Amino acid sequence: MRWNSVYGKLLKFKRSNRHITGTIAGCAILLSLVWIFSTYQVLLSMTTPSQLLTDPFLQMPAENSVRVVWFTEFAGSRHTVIYGKDLNKEVIATTTQLSRTREDSRSQVKGQTKDNLIFTQPTIRKIWRHEVKVENLILGERLPYYVASVREDGEKIDSAVFTLRSAPSEKQALKILLTSDHQLMPMTAANLEKVVETVGKVDAIFHAGDLVNIPDRASEWFDDDRGGAFFPCLQGRARYELEKNDVKTVYKGGELIQHAPLFTTIGNHEVMGRFSMESSLNEQLYDAYPRTAAQQLYPTEDETGLKNNSFNTDTYEEIFTLPESHKGRKKYYAVTFGDVRLVVPFITNVWRIESLNADAKGRYREREQDLNNPAAWGYGQHIPEPIVKGSVQYNWLEKELNSPEFKQAKYKIVMFHHPPHTLGGNIVPAYTDPVQIIERNADGNIQAIRYEYPKEADYIIRDVVPLLEAAGVQLVFYGHSHLWNRFINSQGMHFLETSNVGNSYGAAVAEKPRKVPAGYQEDYAATGNPNGLEPVMPTIAPILDENGQPVPYIASNDLTVFSILETGAGVVSSYYFDTRLPQSQVVKFDEFKLKVPAITQQ
Ligand SMILES: [Fe+2]
Repeated sequence: MRWNSVYGKLLKFKRSNRHITGTIAGCAILLSLVWIFSTYQVLLSMTTPSQLLTDPFLQMPAENSVRVVWFTEFAGSRHTVIYGKDLNKEVIATTTQLSRTREDSRSQVKGQTKDNLIFTQPTIRKIWRHEVKVENLILGERLPYYVASVREDGEKIDSAVFTLRSAPSEKQALKILLTSDHQLMPMTAANLEKVVETVGKVDAIFHAGDLVNIPDRASEWFDDDRGGAFFPCLQGRARYELEKNDVKTVYKGGELIQHAPLFTTIGNHEVMGRFSMESSLNEQLYDAYPRTAAQQLYPTEDETGLKNNSFNTDTYEEIFTLPESHKGRKKYYAVTFGDVRLVVPFITNVWRIESLNADAKGRYREREQDLNNPAAWGYGQHIPEPIVKGSVQYNWLEKELNSPEFKQAKYKIVMFHHPPHTLGGNIVPAYTDPVQIIERNADGNIQAIRYEYPKEADYIIRDVVPLLEAAGVQLVFYGHSHLWNRFINSQGMHFLETSNVGNSYGAAVAEKPRKVPAGYQEDYAATGNPNGLEPVMPTIAPILDENGQPVPYIASNDLTVFSILETGAGVVSSYYFDTRLPQSQVVKFDEFKLKVPAITQQ
C-alpha cells in the first residue's frame, strides 16, 4: 500500500509537472551521452597509436616538385605537409589504405615474441598511406618540411623537421647510395648508420631489390620488434642489437630517405605468391604460380582474381611512388636524376631451393607427392615479367635506350635485381623460362618432373646485355646473391653487385661450390661466374683469405659493404665496416671510374 501510494504520488507529480520531468530526462540523456563520448575518447586514445608509423620520405623528384609520403596506423581526419623557409606553407595529403598488408604466425610485432602467440593465421593490418606533391619548388633549393597527422580524437601528431628538394640540375655533383637486399638482415642497420657517418646525407638511394623478406607482412616494412624493419633502418629509427664476440651494439640505421629520394626495383622478395588467409605468409611468398598455369586451372576475367591465383607486386606498388612506363607502370621505368639516366627493368625470377630431394619443390624438380597434382607444382624458377627479345618489356627497354633522355645523359646506369655476372649462388641456373621435362613409365604414369635451363637462352646475357653494350651503358647495378663483387667487359661497361649489406650467402668458390644437379642435360656451374667475365680485384684494399692472399670479393657475415656513386668525379667507391670491431673505422677498399664518352663530357 505504501509503495503504491508513493508511485501514485510520483505519477501525479509527473502529470502535473510534465515540463520538469522532461528536463530531468533530457539532462540524464545528455549526461549519458557525455559519459559515453568521454569513455570512447579514453578508449580511442588508449588504442590509437601516439606516433606516426614512419617518418616522411621523399619520392619522385621532378623539375619543380617532389612527393612526400608517410604512413599511419590510423585513418585520421587531416594529414598535411608543412614546408617553406618559415614553415608557413601547408598542403593536404591524399590518403589511401594498403590493401594486402597482414601479420601472421611468424610476425614479430605487437607483443608476438614467438610464433603463433597472437596471430595464429594471416590477419589484415590496417595501414594508411599519405602523399603530398609539393610543387612550385625552385630547382636545387633545399627547404625544411615536416608532416602532421590528426587522429580521429583530434590529437595532432607532428614529425620532426627534415629537408626536401626537387630534382637536382644536370650540373650538380651528387652522392648516390647503391644498396640492395636489406631484408631485415642482421647488419643492415649498422650498414646504413655507417653510410651517414662516412659520407653524410646522400642525394639519392638506388635500391636494387629485396627490400624485405615477405612483402605482405606489414611489420617487416614498419615496426618489426627486433628493430630492423625497412623504414626504420633507412630513417635512422632502427634499434637493432647486433652481438659479436659477446659484445652487443645497438645500431639505429641512417636518416637518409627523409631528405633524399629512394628509387627501387623489384626483387624476388617483392613478388607475393597465391593469396590465402589460411597458409602462412612465408608459404605464400614461395607459392608464386605462373599466370598461364593459373588461367588454365582457375579461368577468370578478373585481374585481382588472376593475381590472387598466381602472384602480385601490389604491396610494393602501393607503398612506393615511382616513375612509370606506359605498359610496365611502376614495375619498370626510367628516370633522369641530375646527370644520371637510371633505367630500371623488372628482372627477377621466383627463387626456389637447389635441393634434389624427393620433397623439394625446387628449381630443378617437383616434389614426388605432387607429381599428379599440377595445382601444387612450383614450375621451377619461373619469370614473372618477360624480358625475352620481342616481349613488351624488351621493346620498352630498346625504345628507352634510343630515347633522347637516355642518349643525352652523362651517366647511363641500369639497375635490376638478378645478376648478369657474379660469384654468388643465385646466378645458376640461367635466367630463362624453365623447360619442364615430364618422365613417364611404360604405363604413362609420371615418374619425375624436372626443369632444365638452357644456358644459351639466358635472356639477360643473350638479349639484354648486348642492348646495353650497344647503348653505351657505363654501369649495370644489381643484387640478389648477398656479396660484393664487380666485373668489367671489353668495352669498359662495369657490372657491380654490392649486396653484402645485411648478411652473405657466400661466393661459389672451390671450398664452397654451388649445389648443382648431376646427370641433367645442362652443365650447371658449381663455381665461379658462369657467364665468363672474371671478377676484378678491389683497387685499394682487398680483403685477404686465410692464406693471406687477396680475394676479388667480399662474402661475409661480419663485414658489411656499401657503395657510393659520386657523379662529380664519375667514381664508384666501395667501403666495408667490420661489425666485430664496433669502434673501428670504415675502410674504403675499392674505387673505379665510369667512362664518359667525349660527346657527353661537360
Ligand atoms: Fe633476391
